[in-house]
Amino acid sequence: MRTIIETQDGSHSIMAEEFGVSYHSKYGAVQETEHVFINAGLRHQASSKKELSILGIGFGTGLNALMTCLEAEKMGLTIHYTAVEAYPIPPELAEQLNYAELINVEKTGNIFRQLHQCDWEIPINIEPHFILTKRKQTFQDIADLDAYDIIYFDAFAPNAQPELWEAPIMQTMYDALKAGGVMTTYCAKGVVKRTMKAVGFTIEALPGPPGKREMTRAVKKITD
Ligand SMILES: C[S@@+](CC[C@H](N)C(=O)[O-])C[C@H]1O[C@@H](n2cnc3c(N)ncnc32)[C@H](O)[C@@H]1O
Repeated sequence: MRTIIETQDGSHSIMAEEFGVSYHSKYGAVQETEHVFINAGLRHQASSKKELSILGIGFGTGLNALMTCLEAEKMGLTIHYTAVEAYPIPPELAEQLNYAELINVEKTGNIFRQLHQCDWEIPINIEPHFILTKRKQTFQDIADLDAYDIIYFDAFAPNAQPELWEAPIMQTMYDALKAGGVMTTYCAKGVVKRTMKAVGFTIEALPGPPGKREMTRAVKKITD
C-alpha cells in the first residue's frame, strides 16, 4: 500500500505502509535530495568531470532523477543515469506528486512525466544531456563493474530493510563504482559505516540535511 504524504518543506513523499517508512525524510523530500545527492554527490564529482554516470538505488518517486536532470542542465553536465527499482509506483500515483509545481522551472512537468512514462531496460534520451536507463531489478541482482562515478544510495532505512545495508550489498556497490567514484547516503549509522569501511570504502562524515546531524559519503579510492 502506497499513500502520498507531505513533508515539512511542502514537497510530497510516499509512505510505504508495509515497511512503516516514507520514501524521504519527513523534514523535506526536496531538501534531502538537494543536500544528500545533488550537493554531496553530483556537485562534488562535477568539479573534476563534465560527463558522469550515476546509479540511483531506488527510482521510487523519480525525485532524485528529476533534480539531477535539472541541475545537470544548469551545470552543463552530461549524465548517464541508471535507476534500479524492483517495485515501481503506479503511474496514477506519480501524477499526483507535486515536484513539478514546486520546482518551478520550465519543462519540469514534461521531464517528470517522461521519467515515469518512458520504457524500462533501454537508454532513453529524456533531454539531450540526460540519458536514463530504468532497470526493473532488485538491488541484490546488480552486477555492474567499475561503471559509475556516483551512486545515490537511497534504500529504505536499515531498521526497515537491514539486509540492504549489509556487506554483500555494500560490496556490490563498491564493485559497481569506478575508482575515484563516490556513494552518498542519508544514513550515518555507525554499523553501516563500519560495513562500508570493511568492503574497502573510505568514509567521510558530512553534515546532514535539515533534521539530521550527519550523512555519509563513501569513496572508492583511486589507488584500488
Ligand atoms: C527510499 S525509497 C527511494 C526513493 C527514491 N530515490 C525517490 O527519489 O523517490 C527506496 C526504494 O527502493 C525500492 N526497493 C526496496 N527494496 C528493493 C530491492 N530489494 N530491490 C530494488 N528496489 C527496492 C522501493 O520500492 C523504493 O522505491
